[in-house]
Amino acid sequence: MSDEKAKRTGARRHEAAAKVPEIGVGMLGYAFMGKAHSSALRRLAYAAWPPPLVPRLVAIAGRNAEQVAGAAERFGYERWTTDWRDLVADPQIQLLSNGGPNSLHAEPTIAAAEAGKHVLCEKPLGRSAEESYEIWRGVAAAEVKHMCGFNYRFVPAVRLARELIEAGEVGEIRHFRARYMQDWGVDDTRQAWRFDPEQAGSGAIGDLASHVVDLARFLVGEIGSVSALVRTFVPERRVDDAVEATVEFHSGAIGTIEATRLALGRRNAFQWEINGTEGSLAFDLERLNELRVFRADDLRARGFKTVLVTEPDHPFAEFAWPPGHIVGWGDTFVYEFHHFLSAIAGERSVAPYGATLEDGYRAAEVCDAFVSSSRSGRREKIVYRTL
Ligand SMILES: NC(=O)c1ccc[n+]([C@@H]2O[C@H](COP(=O)([O-])OP(=O)(O)OC[C@H]3O[C@@H](n4cnc5c(N)ncnc54)[C@H](O)[C@@H]3O)[C@@H](O)[C@H]2O)c1
Repeated sequence: MSDEKAKRTGARRHEAAAKVPEIGVGMLGYAFMGKAHSSALRRLAYAAWPPPLVPRLVAIAGRNAEQVAGAAERFGYERWTTDWRDLVADPQIQLLSNGGPNSLHAEPTIAAAEAGKHVLCEKPLGRSAEESYEIWRGVAAAEVKHMCGFNYRFVPAVRLARELIEAGEVGEIRHFRARYMQDWGVDDTRQAWRFDPEQAGSGAIGDLASHVVDLARFLVGEIGSVSALVRTFVPERRVDDAVEATVEFHSGAIGTIEATRLALGRRNAFQWEINGTEGSLAFDLERLNELRVFRADDLRARGFKTVLVTEPDHPFAEFAWPPGHIVGWGDTFVYEFHHFLSAIAGERSVAPYGATLEDGYRAAEVCDAFVSSSRSGRREKIVYRTL
């Protein structure tokens, strides 16, 4: 491109960005998710220019005044508060991002929606299917845009898997086999709320298995029944440590879902494999730039191939670096927010590539069924509620 042409293109982009309206963001929580969401919002303009809406970080809420003030300064929020209701009442906020503990998902998310704000609520949506349903119902009635924070839908390799499945490349899916393994659950002196049933609702189920259920639904389809074993191994712990389940999809495919916080040596290993009539796909979150692909018709070079998902025609490549310059876990939140802001700007709908609060509710139904199946010793059929 000549210098003149480049200048003209640059000037046009600058004009386009100047016309992009701002969206005021209120962030609930300043710790793990508060940092992940805020960092993604700050980095959006690096990924996409002009962005669908320009995020303006208006205010952040947390319990500890000193720490939330520090987070506001560090992340770039204009204001901070120790009362999340200030976010709901703030007319300069049009989007609430809820990164609070699970017990703080329902009330602020519904209140923000009722105040006319769009809402992104972290997973698991509620502490139970019942609470998740109420959140979905309350927010849907307010007719704002909503999204549940199942960010693994925004891993480029996961999206590529979905595109290959939609294109029929693996044929009819027969198996989904997945396990989400972490090991920090041996030490419950940290992350205290995650071990309190009042605040968390469940243990590994809501924390980890909900991610697996969402990806199972995203890649294979709706789950019709489950049979599960849920265990608490650590004495006196009041939430589950692990779940092992078999699942049946409406399509007829069958699968296994496993989640644990006690898999020593496994730090954040979310691994899944899909087998269809024409091929297989496999993925490991700890190698998130790679999708492993087996094609039955590839007779001469038969075997699993490792595809580095960074090519120009791969998902989210327009936001990333040149081919081979890999992305990381934090980037999934950038793509997630870009998707949500595009939906708010009216350029696309949240579904099917983003998880709506209905998806959050449906995942919660499956998670509840794990618990009831483990208690009853029977296979549980899942009935999904509608609005
Ligand atoms: N999408 C993902 O991959 C992912 C990863 C981790 C956590 N999560 C989810 O995000 C949510 C938050 O988890 P986290 O790991 O960030 O937890 P965290 O403990 O790191 O942070 C919780 C935040 O909530 C704030 N908070 C708690 N009570 C509050 C109150 N009454 N008023 C205002 N703020 C309050 C705390 O100050 C803290 O900033 C959970 O629902 C969790 O399941 C999602």
